[in-house]
Amino acid sequence: MVDIDWDALRVAANEAMQKSYSPYSKFPVGAAALVSDGRIISGCNVENASYGVGLCAECALVSALHMSGGGELVAFTCVDGHGNILMPCGRCRQLLNEFSAEGMLLETVSGIKTMDEVLPDAFGPRQLAEYAQAD
Ligand code: THU
Repeated sequence: MVDIDWDALRVAANEAMQKSYSPYSKFPVGAAALVSDGRIISGCNVENASYGVGLCAECALVSALHMSGGGELVAFTCVDGHGNILMPCGRCRQLLNEFSAEGMLLETVSGIKTMDEVLPDAFGPRQLAEYAQAD
């Protein structure tokens, strides 16, 4: 596993958080990740007057991943409006899992954890491939 510069990821997440559009919840969020090719990507939450259609910061992050060349997520962090580590919501863990490198690490409120630890027994592309093989 590569050496991960968590400070650099946190800086990128905080910069993204400053761009948050969260007039309804007033809860800005920024997320950043290290990609398998070494680049750092980020995203912020973007809310909507129709509250339910607001986008989490992780949605923007996975779009940024795909738009900037794809690849796999190696390490991830997420911060709230005070710069404190924020645990990605359940839906966002699923979003991140889709693009996770084997052994992906996340900075969480209870320390560095693997994707497997924060989304055990996940249903993702690897599982779909296994099901297809079993047919
Ligand atoms: N939010 C995120 O952006 N990511 C998460 O993982 C948790 C929640 C956002 C959604 C909403 O704009 C605000 O935080 C309050 O829930």
